[in-house]
Amino acid sequence: MRYLIGNWKSNENNTQTKLWLETFKNNQPPSKIDLSTIVCMPFTNLAEANRYVAEFNLPIQIGAQDVSAFPSGSHTGGITAGMLSELIGFCLVGHSERRQELGEDSDMVTSKAKILLESSITPIVCIDEPYLEEQVKSLYTGKVAIEKCLFAYEPLLAIGSGKPAVPDDVERVAAKINFLTDSVCPVIYGGSVGEANITSFASLPNISGVLVGTNSLDPKTFVKLMSCV
Ligand code: PGA
Repeated sequence: MRYLIGNWKSNENNTQTKLWLETFKNNQPPSKIDLSTIVCMPFTNLAEANRYVAEFNLPIQIGAQDVSAFPSGSHTGGITAGMLSELIGFCLVGHSERRQELGEDSDMVTSKAKILLESSITPIVCIDEPYLEEQVKSLYTGKVAIEKCLFAYEPLLAIGSGKPAVPDDVERVAAKINFLTDSVCPVIYGGSVGEANITSFASLPNISGVLVGTNSLDPKTFVKLMSCV
């Protein structure tokens, strides 16, 4: 299976989401059976997006960008995996922006991955080299079913910078992730992926797809990327 995953971050309200999905519908390429196209969007858009995906019969799965590390109960503001399970099949965890801005660490990411799997949601675990081994070790120690996760290698300097990583480096780190995890889960690359460079990452032997931030906000660009994964 190949993966094209969009990460809208803190962008797009419900009106903009409907417009994005309508534009996608009017421009979509013929569907590819072995391509999983996932769009991770803000919590507030998930229900509406699901409605339109069904109504327009789009080859897209909706994902979230985070989940509470806690179960349901007295945790003000938390969106639990149980709540999300009616809406999504995939969820990002441990994006470096959350590590930097909110102090999330590997053990918290492990808790989130575990709680997602208990609700049958696939965690997309974001990792970078400085904490790659620590994160994998934490997942094993936390008894997370790693074979049910996806790993997204996202080098910090490549995110949102317009300066993607060097494909040889991506292949080296992806091979390391596969070595540490016995190659039981797909590894994708994220960081300034666009039309000009997507093939250089998607064609790497240890890479199963890409995670796209900025270039997922334009549905016409996103549709073009679908043909290149
Ligand atoms: P970018 O973001 O494509 O804008 O670099 C990727 C990400 O942070 O997931």
